Amino acid sequence: MNYSSLRKGILLAGGKGTRLAPLTSAFSKQLMPVYDKPMIYYSITTLMLCGIKKILIISDPENIDLYFRLLGNGDKWGIELSYAIQENPEGVAQSVLIGEEFIDSSHIAIALGDNIFHGNEFIPLLRSADTLKKGSTVFAYPVRDPENYGVLSFDDSGSVVGIEEKPEKPPSQYALTGLYFYDNTVVEKAKELTFSARGELEISDLNIKYLNDKLLNINIMGRGIAWLDTGTIDSLQEASQYIRTLEHRQGLKIGCPEEVAWRQGWINDQQLEKLAANLLKSSYGEYLTKILELNIKDGI
Ligand code: DAU
Repeated sequence: MNYSSLRKGILLAGGKGTRLAPLTSAFSKQLMPVYDKPMIYYSITTLMLCGIKKILIISDPENIDLYFRLLGNGDKWGIELSYAIQENPEGVAQSVLIGEEFIDSSHIAIALGDNIFHGNEFIPLLRSADTLKKGSTVFAYPVRDPENYGVLSFDDSGSVVGIEEKPEKPPSQYALTGLYFYDNTVVEKAKELTFSARGELEISDLNIKYLNDKLLNINIMGRGIAWLDTGTIDSLQEASQYIRTLEHRQGLKIGCPEEVAWRQGWINDQQLEKLAANLLKSSYGEYLTKILELNIKDGI
């Protein structure tokens, strides 16, 4: 069974973005461009590719209106977007408490607005995560600099026994990515969390609760999937370059919500045509017109 009709999405687009200042001094990091589109488009399409149509966008008081101006209520992409404010960046897991009413009795997926994924194997992985009835699914990825992430520790038999947030001495190379699938018990688990030494409700602590209950399903992402970092000026440039190279070579866009909505059948040809007409002066708008003309609906 596919749970995405029941599953809702939470997209976290707050935080201070201090590592990218002064670029982020006037507006939020996730509004910055990654090549030809705002960063947040990539995580919205991740949730949409999973079949999720109800998404709560969480950001800080200064930026929430900008997100609404960019994305609206989701109508144009056949989805439902709602918005909530996080007064202070007090941790990724705080999104569950902010979103409690929105979550209601649903399963959820949390996507961090600065995480970009790409690759053929990614969509099947997403869909299999969505079929899990109970517990949580998270994704681990080998990285060169695990000290900047939530990191898995393994016992001698290779089983995961712990998760450490930004460890000085990383117990492995395997970082957890910013995409998390949870069952509805996430709300009661989040309520039990306490603030960490750095003053945050840590997503790693939430995941440890599932791990301790033996309900944390960890998927290792293979080489066929790219997980791009956007945390520093250089990694942001590299992410843009990666997207540019692939888009130029294939003539297909990555992270294009209009295209995903259309291919999912959430908007029809006329609606896509209208969206394209509004953007026609840009290469983005030309692309929407092109996919409509080619009318190739298979393969996202
Ligand atoms: O990217 C994956 C990593 O994301 C995980 O490996 C870590 O376990 C997890 O803690 C997180 O680490 P980061 O250091 O990348 O978290 P950061 O504080 O940069 O925030 C991640 C995103 O969430 C970013 O887009 C800002 C947003 N955010 C963050 C916090 C702490 C919020 O919207 N509100 C917040 O309170």
